Amino acid sequence: MQIQKNISLKPFNTFGIDVVARSFARFKDTDELEELINQFHDTDKLILGGGSNVLFTNHYDGIVLKNEISGIHEMHEDNEYVYVKVGAGENWHQFVLHCLERNWAGVENLSLIPGNVGASPMQNIGAYGMELHDVFYALEAYHIHDNKVLTFSRNDCEFGYRDSIFKKKYKDQFVILNVTYQLRKHPKFNISYGVIEQELEKMGVKELSIKAISDAIINIRSSKLPDPKKIGNAGSFFKNPEISNEQFDELKKEFPEVVGYPLAEEKVKLAAGWLIENCGPDANTSWKGYRIGDAGCHAKQALVLVNYGSAKGSEIYELSEKILQSVNKKFGVNLEREVNIIE
Ligand code: FAD
Ligand code: EPU
Repeated sequence: MQIQKNISLKPFNTFGIDVVARSFARFKDTDELEELINQFHDTDKLILGGGSNVLFTNHYDGIVLKNEISGIHEMHEDNEYVYVKVGAGENWHQFVLHCLERNWAGVENLSLIPGNVGASPMQNIGAYGMELHDVFYALEAYHIHDNKVLTFSRNDCEFGYRDSIFKKKYKDQFVILNVTYQLRKHPKFNISYGVIEQELEKMGVKELSIKAISDAIINIRSSKLPDPKKIGNAGSFFKNPEISNEQFDELKKEFPEVVGYPLAEEKVKLAAGWLIENCGPDANTSWKGYRIGDAGCHAKQALVLVNYGSAKGSEIYELSEKILQSVNKKFGVNLEREVNIIE
């Protein structure tokens, strides 16, 4: 295994932030990972997949371990499901395409999400009416301090909205090695998320299929989310905040247009994009489309912060802080960052 020293992480994060890692290595299996962990016992470690949900605000003084464990294996099946074990280093969207080709259903709504399989349980990736936990079966993860491989079931992972046990109690303790998904042999279509039906109609789809749903979602995503190959970004920078019904009613009195979706337990999920669009650096301006230097708030999706070229991570972070404060000042709502900030 090659250990690289003082290398730029710019090609390894979709924000395109140009910071240097003191050490960098790739691993292709558990043995290589173990060797690296033993060799760099006392060094800070960052496990990296596709780098599409991180913001580097500084040079990284430890070792970056890039997970390149590959392989897609059909383990077993029953009447309803096929169980597929996938190496953490496989690209997520390539895996979705693999499923579409075999008519394995359940991941079509999660088409075109950047990044790798290993990160999919980290924040329980979600989009267009589905979350990873809907298709998750189990994962294997390596404990960095105990040098042990443990298996986690769906319950063990404590999935929530953009959340799992690996972001809370077990933060920075495990390296996810592989994930097993439970995919339907007979699809159950989910086109409940507002714009999907509209897009399918626009496409002239007569007969619903997982391929048609995937294509519709690819079209929707491409129309508003910036392509990281062209403009640096990490998708939604903040989570959509959850507030009580009572707080929502109060907010609606003052801002009748505010966008929110009812949840269980008398809560409402607010569209953070709306909140950000409807406040700004000054009283009569909007953050949406705002740019300072090379840091900006995307003109088509206010929830996405962008790097137009050579913004520093700290500049993106500062912009996020200003947005967070102005949303709080105007609407009394706290935004929480969704992107992992690496200091
Ligand atoms: P990375 O950015 O490499 O890592 C993310 C975090 O997970 C880091 O803390 C890292 O240390 C940790 N990590 C990564 N791999 C492992 C591993 N094997 N073991 C342990 N820890 C690990 N997300 C959504 O949920 N829904 C969306 O619709 C969505 N849309 C996006 C659109 C765009 C344009 C972009 C750029 C991002 C979007 N995202 C979305 C965010 C991102 O794609 C997901 O969070 C994705 O799962 C990140 O995968 P990654 O491999 O790039 O993770
Ligand atoms: N909106 C605005 N202005 C904006 C953006 C959004 O007013 O600039 C309002 C609109 O009312 C719109 C609503 O927000 O109808 C919802 O917007 P959208 O459908 O684009 O979804 P989102 O809530 O902004 C979430 C996820 C995305 C995911 C989409 C689709 C979070 C933090 N973000 O965005 O995930 O792709 O829904 O399901 O939950 C990501 O996590 O990186 C990500 C892109």
